[in-house]
Amino acid sequence: MNRKVCFCRSGAQAARKFPLAQFGPLLVAMVGLPGRGKSLLARRLSRYLNYTGDKTRVYDISEYRRKHMKQYATHEMFKPDNLPAWRIRQQSFREALEEAAGWLQQPENRIAILDGPNVSRAQRQEIYDLIYGQLGFRVMFIECVCEDPVLLERNFKEILQYSADYTNMATEEALKDLTHKMAHYKAQYESPTLGSLWELPCPMVKILDGEGGIIAHGVSGTKESKILAYVSTPRPYQQTLYFSRHGESEYNVIGRIGGDANLSPRGRLYAQSLAKHIQALNLPSLQIWTSTLQRTKATSAGIQAPQIHLHELDEIWSGDCESLSYEELQEHFPRRGGPYEDVMARLVPVLTQLECETNVLTISHQAVLRCVLSYFLETPPDEIPYVHVPLHTIIKLTLQGYNYNMETIKMPVECVDTNRAKPVKLLRESDG
Ligand SMILES: *[C@@H]1O[C@H](CO)[C@@H](O)[C@H](O)[C@H]1NC(C)=O
Ligand SMILES: *[C@@H]1O[C@H](CO)[C@@H](O)[C@H](O)[C@H]1NC(C)=O
Repeated sequence: MNRKVCFCRSGAQAARKFPLAQFGPLLVAMVGLPGRGKSLLARRLSRYLNYTGDKTRVYDISEYRRKHMKQYATHEMFKPDNLPAWRIRQQSFREALEEAAGWLQQPENRIAILDGPNVSRAQRQEIYDLIYGQLGFRVMFIECVCEDPVLLERNFKEILQYSADYTNMATEEALKDLTHKMAHYKAQYESPTLGSLWELPCPMVKILDGEGGIIAHGVSGTKESKILAYVSTPRPYQQTLYFSRHGESEYNVIGRIGGDANLSPRGRLYAQSLAKHIQALNLPSLQIWTSTLQRTKATSAGIQAPQIHLHELDEIWSGDCESLSYEELQEHFPRRGGPYEDVMARLVPVLTQLECETNVLTISHQAVLRCVLSYFLETPPDEIPYVHVPLHTIIKLTLQGYNYNMETIKMPVECVDTNRAKPVKLLRESDG
C-alpha cells in the first residue's frame, strides 16, 4: 500500500472509528538508544504531568527484564543472535506494554509512558495496534537522539552509577560491558523516520540533545501539545537548588497568618546567617528568587547575587482567614485544601523554569514552598498541606539519578514552630 495515502486517510478514519478519542488516554512511547536521557526525561515528564493534573505512570521495560533475569549478567544478552535472550526482551516489552494498557483503562488514569531502549519498528507497530487499534487510545512517540561524545560520556557515567544492572560490577568491567552493549544496540537500532512517510499516523517528536533542537511531526491534541511544550526545553543533568522560608516575621511570633509583616529581630539574625552560609558556598551563577513581600526581600537583602521578586512566590492568599491566628483558623475553617490547588496552579511557570536552572536560592513562604518541594519530591496532592518546611532552615535539593535528594541545614537561630500536624478528624472524614 502507498504509505503516503495511508497516512492521510487514517486520520479521518480514526475520527470516525473512535469518536471523542481526543479526550481519552494517551500512551507515550520513548524511543532511543541507551544513555540518551530517555529515562530521566520520562521521569521528569511524569512528575510534571502528575502535578498539572494528568495522572501519569512510567512503565520501564528494563525493570520487567530484570524480573525475568534475576541478575544482569553481561552485554552478551543484547547480541542480535542471542535468541533466548531476545525472547526475554520481547516478553518484557509485551508485559510492560500490556500493564500500561491495563492501567490506562482504569478511570482517572490519563497518560502512560513506556520507557525502553530499542523500541523497534515491529514493536512500534505492536504498540500502535494494541493501544490505538484495539483500545482506541492515542499514541505518541518521543525519540531521544544524542551523538555528542561529551554528553554521551556523562550519560554513561550516570548509568554506571545508578543503573541496577551495574550495582554488582567493578567500574572498569562495567564500562567495558556498557560499551559492548551500546554497540549491539546500535547495530540493530531502527530510528523512526519523520515526515509524510513516517511509518505510523501518530505524533512523533525527535529530541536532538547536544544540538539543542527538536523536530515534531503530526502533533495534535491538548495533551500531546502540552508534552511537546515541556520536552522542548532543555534541562540540566546536574542540578542543585536551594530553598528557604523568610526569617521569622513579626506575625509568626504572635501566631497570625498572611499579611505583609516585617522580620522579627530573630528573623533578621537568620537573614544574616543565611547570607553568610550561601556566600561561603561560592556557587557559580547563583540567583535569588523571592516573593514580592517584605519579609522575603528582607531575608535575601544581604546576599550578593542577582535577585528577582516574583508574585507567583507570594504566600497563599488566605482570603477570609487573612490575619487570623492558627487557632482561629482551625476553628472556623477546619478543612482547607482548596487554596493549595490555586497555589499549585500559579506555580507551574515558576516550577518549569526552576527545573531548567541550577544554583537558584528560592526564598518564599510555608504554603508555597510546600507545593514547590512536593513537585520535586513527588508528594501526593492530599499530603501537600502537611509537608514540614521549618523556619530558619536551608533546604537543598540535588538531582541524583532520576530522583531529587533532600538535605536540610538548620541554622542556629531560634524561632517559633509554625508546623501543624495533620488533624486526626480530617483523616477520618476523608476515609469515609
Ligand atoms: C504519578 O502518579 C501516579 C499515580 O498516582 C504514581 O503512581 C506515580 O508514581 C507518580 N509519578 C511521579 C513521577 O510522581
Ligand atoms: C531491537 O529490535 C530489533 C528489531 O525488532 C530486534 O531484532 C533486536 O533484537 C532488538 N535488539 C535489542 C538489543 O533489543
